Amino acid sequence: MRANRQVVLVARPRGLPRPEDFRLTQAPMPHPAEGEVLMRHDWLGLAPAARLRMDEAGSYSAPMALGDVVYGQAIGTVLQSRHPGFAPGDMAMAMRGGWQCFSALPGGDLNKIDPKLAPPPAWLGPLGTSGLAAYIGLLAHGRPRAGETVAVSAAAGAVGSVVGQIARILGCRVVGIAGGEDKCRAAVDEFGFDACVDHRDPALAQALARACPDGIDVAFENAGGPSRDAVWPLMARGGRIVVCGLIAEYNAPETAGPGWYRLLTQRLTIRGYITSDHLDLRPDFERDMARWWSEGRIRMREDVSHGLATAPAAFIGMLQGRNRGKVLVSLAPDHAQAA
Ligand SMILES: NC(=O)c1ccc[n+]([C@@H]2O[C@H](COP(=O)([O-])OP(=O)(O)OC[C@H]3O[C@@H](n4cnc5c(N)ncnc54)[C@H](OP(=O)(O)O)[C@@H]3O)[C@@H](O)[C@H]2O)c1
Repeated sequence: MRANRQVVLVARPRGLPRPEDFRLTQAPMPHPAEGEVLMRHDWLGLAPAARLRMDEAGSYSAPMALGDVVYGQAIGTVLQSRHPGFAPGDMAMAMRGGWQCFSALPGGDLNKIDPKLAPPPAWLGPLGTSGLAAYIGLLAHGRPRAGETVAVSAAAGAVGSVVGQIARILGCRVVGIAGGEDKCRAAVDEFGFDACVDHRDPALAQALARACPDGIDVAFENAGGPSRDAVWPLMARGGRIVVCGLIAEYNAPETAGPGWYRLLTQRLTIRGYITSDHLDLRPDFERDMARWWSEGRIRMREDVSHGLATAPAAFIGMLQGRNRGKVLVSLAPDHAQAA
């Protein structure tokens, strides 16, 4: 009787996973229950998100338990089907196939693929979840327009390369950020990016600025770390930052400072504005605030310092958070002195 070789998680990585965190093991061949499909895995698709599932806290998805087969996608051939949608010989993609040679999964968890349209690996890449992530992130959240500049980190990777190519199709200028000369060359020569800069270059900020002379309209963040920091000062007015992934933080979610991890997991939106953009709302504001104030529903706390000479210290104190309320400087002492 054949066995099912599996890779299971035996220890939760601290920082970067170590080989000892995994164990190769054997389990009995799975048997499909009613409604399930037995599939031979032909390809596994490894995704950075698996790292997040290795932490006890999990992330936007449930954590793996110790002893679990490592989470991952698989493409394979149906050996036996107890589901009406599949027949032996079909090829399918299983989101939760796992790092193992065989799986028995509900047919509803599988997507049939057409190997005549594209070879199986492509269904784990541009035609699979990498492509879907790229497409959704770019179109729904980046909303690029022809002529705009789109910057993409991990540009030569599974998601990043698709983002760049779609953006090119839409008529954007596309600038990649990738690790090393080879990847940068691939982004330009293979994926058609207009330019690509190396995030290992100590002069990354300057290189990216040269590659994006009109600023960045859409930043598609896959990595975090140096690329995130380099993109930030170049964002153009009305720009959109799409946080697809923060792989640089996956091994260190406890990174000092707020990080962007929560932005990702909680699907937060950051939106800039300047009051003068919305002076059309001024009449509404004046009406509502006058009423709330007169009804005693609005309070104010004042942090008053006295005399013009105190202004610098008050200002500096405010920048250090020492103020308790609205910082005000009374000029009464100055006026009294002058009188
Ligand atoms: N939001 C979603 O639904 C969703 C779906 C799929 C993927 N993702 C995210 O998309 C990102 C890319 O995933 P992918 O599958 O396409 O992987 P990938 O880009 O094919 O491979 C990962 C790449 O990330 C970069 N990288 C690795 N460690 C890094 C570090 N410490 N600092 C900076 N960069 C690092 C490397 O590229 P360089 O050498 O070029 O830096 C590496 O090749 C990941 O963050 C992933 O979690 C999100």
